[in-house]
Amino acid sequence: MNKKTVRDIPVSELKGKRVLVRVDFNVPLDEERRITDDTRIVESLPTITYLLERGTKVILVSHLGRPKGKPKDEFRMDPVAERLEKLLGRKVYKANDCVGEAVEGMVKNLAEGEVLLLENVRFYAEEEANDENFARALARLADIYVNDAFGTAHRAHASTAGVARFLPAYAGFLMEKELEALGERLNNPVRPFLAILGGAKISSKIGVIKKLLEKVDALLIGGGMSYTFIKAMGYEVGLSLLEEGMIEEAKVILEAAQKKGVNIVFPDDFVVAREGKENVETKVVAWNQIPHDMGGFDIGPKTMEKFGKEITTAKTIFWNGPLGLFEVETFARGTVEIAKKVAESGAIVVIGGGDTIAAVKKAGVEKRITHISTGGGASLEFVEGRELPGVAVLLDC
Ligand code: 3PG
Repeated sequence: MNKKTVRDIPVSELKGKRVLVRVDFNVPLDEERRITDDTRIVESLPTITYLLERGTKVILVSHLGRPKGKPKDEFRMDPVAERLEKLLGRKVYKANDCVGEAVEGMVKNLAEGEVLLLENVRFYAEEEANDENFARALARLADIYVNDAFGTAHRAHASTAGVARFLPAYAGFLMEKELEALGERLNNPVRPFLAILGGAKISSKIGVIKKLLEKVDALLIGGGMSYTFIKAMGYEVGLSLLEEGMIEEAKVILEAAQKKGVNIVFPDDFVVAREGKENVETKVVAWNQIPHDMGGFDIGPKTMEKFGKEITTAKTIFWNGPLGLFEVETFARGTVEIAKKVAESGAIVVIGGGDTIAAVKKAGVEKRITHISTGGGASLEFVEGRELPGVAVLLDC
């Protein structure tokens, strides 16, 4: 990695310093505002602990959801503060704002080794606008800036990028881990290199698909996006998910793969139903025989076997996107089976994207995966080869 990390700051220069750490605490909450998955908080602990143990005053800043530039109670950071306090095993002070005099006062009162969590930074429209004065106001709170929010590094916002104009900027350990796993491991993969892509839409993954075609030995395609490819091959898909506007693009991808000699592997069969609901009647049909009044919601047994063979021979696997409507139990089997096969493969496995993480957890195999990215959009943009603004602003080595 060519960016400086917190490890590059001499310990003598850390003691007593105020460190503003941009974390991605954008965690899922249920209706009662209980955190349903705290992975992002857990993954930020090594950086926070490292800084606290070296006598710094840690000021954490994050967004939560999309409050659209206004304070809204349902987006307050309080549940995060509570969970963080439990995980860290020490007091976490919580501010009701993220800039201004009151917050500056709280920072002044912080002792070495204490933590302050700021209120949702997206309560200010200036955050997403990357407003210079707002970035300056955040910078006023600290002496050093650390970005550990890989999941938000694809956003050029005041707290992810702008603030680095006013403070020396370093990567945290999670940022470093993500960049190494998604960069080094996938750019110089141990071969054969297999990518598995699923999820609803081709349109959101077009850049990644094209980039992966330059790198992989084989590409497995499943999930909602496979039906647009099937349509592009000239077959009907019934009520399955279809992106009409992407059919031509799908044809271009198929041609590109052929030219590059990349083996794109499509499902051989699907589990179809009249609707994607729990306990509905289902049947298994061949990939090119989806009835007009039914839709595909999962891969079938032949596909599981065929994909399984590819997975067994791979030495590096990148997986993004479920292979069916796995959140509905009736259609979860394909994705769960593939998650198990991936975990058993012995390959270096890198997982990107929120839904894929949930799928791996549902299969109970998350501990056996080499790297599970905390980034959704960020991991896709990074694999696509785009420069992430939150990384670009960090000090070079
Ligand atoms: C994410 O969940 O992908 C990140 O926290 C970024 O959130 P955003 O898409 O609202 O910018």
